[in-house]
Amino acid sequence: MTDDLQKRIQAALANPQNMGELADADAVGTVGNADCGEMLRLWVKFKEQNGKKVIDRATFQSFGCETAIAVASLATELIRGKTAGEALALKTEELAGELGPLPPMKIHCAQLVEGALRSALEPSAEKKDSSPAAATGSTLLDSFSKPKEGIKLTFLD
Ligand code: FES
Repeated sequence: MTDDLQKRIQAALANPQNMGELADADAVGTVGNADCGEMLRLWVKFKEQNGKKVIDRATFQSFGCETAIAVASLATELIRGKTAGEALALKTEELAGELGPLPPMKIHCAQLVEGALRSALEPSAEKKDSSPAAATGSTLLDSFSKPKEGIKLTFLD
């Protein structure tokens, strides 16, 4: 990783935006990467604006990959005010925003954020995290420490 990219990631991590659960979320997506073991959950809340349903707020939790946290922080700000369709149309590199191009070994970190967004927003019911944990807004960690809640996790390719 270049020093420049490392600095941009550290800048995003110095003041991460939108970390944590969103208790009254309308949609939740949880994805994981089996290779590195990272998981990311994204909560989305909508509002009506000018006759359109737009994203009012999005928050996330992950287990700690710095690049994924930096991308999720930027992406959850970027999708504010967009419709689900507009947010889904964003490409991986757009979600990474000011971090700029990521090196090949870090692209999957941004894809994890994109995957969580897709899992939350795509209309396909089977891709949505409809587990009780998601519905109650429980934390990512709660899903594992309280297995009775269940978890719908999508592993990305
Ligand atoms: Fe796997 Fe970042 S190292 S998500």
